[in-house]
Amino acid sequence: MSWRCLRKRRNVLQLCLGAVAGVTASTSANAEVPRLNALVKEFTDSRVDGSLRQFASRKQLIYGAASGYAVLSSDPAFSAHFVKECEILVPENDLKWKRLRPTADEFDFAAADWLLKFAQTHRLQIRGHTLVWHLSLPDWLKETINSQNAERLLVKHIETVVGRYAGKMHSWDVVNEAIEPGDEQPNGLRNSPWFQALGEDYIELAFRAAAEADPNALLTYNDYGLEYDTPENDARRDATLKLLERLKSDGTPVHAFGMQSHLDGVETRLNPVKLQTFLKDIASLGLKIMVTELDVKDVGLPAAIALRDRLVASAYEEYLNIVLNEPAVIAVLTWGLSDRYTWLSRFSRREDGLSVRPLPLGVDLNRKPAWNAIARAFDTAPSR
Ligand code: G3I
Repeated sequence: MSWRCLRKRRNVLQLCLGAVAGVTASTSANAEVPRLNALVKEFTDSRVDGSLRQFASRKQLIYGAASGYAVLSSDPAFSAHFVKECEILVPENDLKWKRLRPTADEFDFAAADWLLKFAQTHRLQIRGHTLVWHLSLPDWLKETINSQNAERLLVKHIETVVGRYAGKMHSWDVVNEAIEPGDEQPNGLRNSPWFQALGEDYIELAFRAAAEADPNALLTYNDYGLEYDTPENDARRDATLKLLERLKSDGTPVHAFGMQSHLDGVETRLNPVKLQTFLKDIASLGLKIMVTELDVKDVGLPAAIALRDRLVASAYEEYLNIVLNEPAVIAVLTWGLSDRYTWLSRFSRREDGLSVRPLPLGVDLNRKPAWNAIARAFDTAPSR
């Protein structure tokens, strides 16, 4: 991806947004939208019979998506599309502490076990998300965690959960989102309950416990806010790389880095050189890389669906074209498959009240331009 292409997209985007402002100001500006449509890349592909998993696997990549028990067990049409498009299933919420741990002494594996069975039945791989995070913690944990009991709680949780699914998980997000430079802690670390109780050592502790419980899983450090050329993302990239360097030099069993990749459709500050350098630096530590939570927020994009879908698709394709140039990238996972079920419909609503459209399939489960853009990015990616 050249700077020229990115500048072109930025110009198109600015033109589109300018026109939309015009549309709201005057009805005569409506005529502008089709003209602007033509400026944005046309996303059509004749090989529509293929699935994303097929396009990915031709380049030795894995494509998959996040979903959950509630959705897959109740929506057969969606499940059928999921099984067709995906090679790997990521439980979006069903392996988080809040779901697994009703009390300090109990584990509830009902939903997670169902998902494992679903994956096995449909010959999907399954990936664990997530063992250590500052969110989705049960109230009892938040109320009782302290520096005396935190290590015991953490190790028992990891031993039990990872041990139960040992040999069955493709990979585990062992530690999620440990970086938050804004918290002003040493090494840019997040001031999470785990950090407060155990300091930075909780990270190594978690990886060692996971490796002991499942020696075959690919153990991943997963984080967000690393994609753009902004001072905030610079600080996060720097702190993430340094964390991974420390872990590797201490011999911690971390095997992969998960780049969440929650993209923003109005954001144009993508810097291919910076991004590729970051990925190369990570790869040089001997780590595999996975795009773990890809989606494109459409808040602030024009209301017109055809135009909005093309801008979202364009954001997918530009990003993947950069990232897939790095041979250490082994998987691309979207955070959801269809706009029917996306966290963004609750967490990032549009001001105009229209439904958000961040994923490869529409609410009707039909393929959107984003699907084509992802397929094409796989198709043009270098082989691993
Ligand atoms: O299941 C309950 C339901 O019973 C209840 O009626 C409803 C009321 O709001 O809440 C439901 O639980 C919600 C759950 O999503 C399922 O919809 C939780 O409140 C809500 O907090 C939870 O949000 C999830 C969020 O992580 C926090 O765990 C999102 O679905 C999920 O997409 C999001 O995923 C995170 C990744 O784990 C880490 N990276 C960022 C990513 C996006 O925030």
